[in-house]
Amino acid sequence: MANIFKSSIGKKLIMSISGLFLILFLLLHLTINFFSVIDSITNDFGAPDGLFQMGCDFMSLPIITVMVPILALGFIIHIMYACILTISNLCSRGGYFRYKVSSNAKTDSWASKNMLALGIIVLGLLVFHLTHFWADMQLQEWMGKEADNPYDLLTTTFGTWWQVAIYVVWFGALWFHLTHGFWSAFQTIGWNNKIWIGRLKVLAYIFATLIFLGFTTVAINSYMEALKIGA
Ligand code: HEM
Repeated sequence: MANIFKSSIGKKLIMSISGLFLILFLLLHLTINFFSVIDSITNDFGAPDGLFQMGCDFMSLPIITVMVPILALGFIIHIMYACILTISNLCSRGGYFRYKVSSNAKTDSWASKNMLALGIIVLGLLVFHLTHFWADMQLQEWMGKEADNPYDLLTTTFGTWWQVAIYVVWFGALWFHLTHGFWSAFQTIGWNNKIWIGRLKVLAYIFATLIFLGFTTVAINSYMEALKIGA
């Protein structure tokens, strides 16, 4: 059993299962954030009984809060194994340059060759993101203080165009990461016949684009709400 974690396929399996878990989180996270756009449409942006406020209240229920360490572990395992796999690939191929030459096949997408670099950008900006929201919400509650108003955090974070631009670059890196990660995860868990790989690659682009457009809409909508109140 222990050998499975040491074998290359075992490590890839851990990468895919943790990746699919993070994909589920992204879907839930986007759904709740998108409530803020619906609130704008229904004129409830900032209202105490707005959909986004209700989503945030739901996320702070104890049953959901206990999931936070599991989510953090999912991120840590995914990143740790990405580094382990990349290093062992480099060693077996004789260095970065050899890797580049040997993987120049036309079928390899740009994203597939740059997954580690893309992952590092996604992670770096995730830390930046947590200081904007998580640190003023859940962390405050853990310290026995009151969480900041989530609508205020949206208009403060996205109140300047350059902050929106940084976030859109982040969503762009996530888009590339997902266009490869999504189908590759399913391939590793066994959906690796020719027909399904083709379908999964198309689904990967649809899913990555949905995530990109969804989060970008939330950011731009918050920017427009900030303009309205002059934040
Ligand atoms: C417009 C884009 C986004 C907005 C408005 C947003 C909003 C938020 C908010 C309000 C929280 C705090 C939740 C709480 O403490 O109860 C949060 C936390 C978090 N966000 Fe985001 N987020 C966005 C994009 C992303 C993306 C793209 C990722 C992943 C790559 C991400 C990962 C996380 C994580 C890991 C947490 C901490 C766990 C949690 O509290 O749910 N977020 N975000």
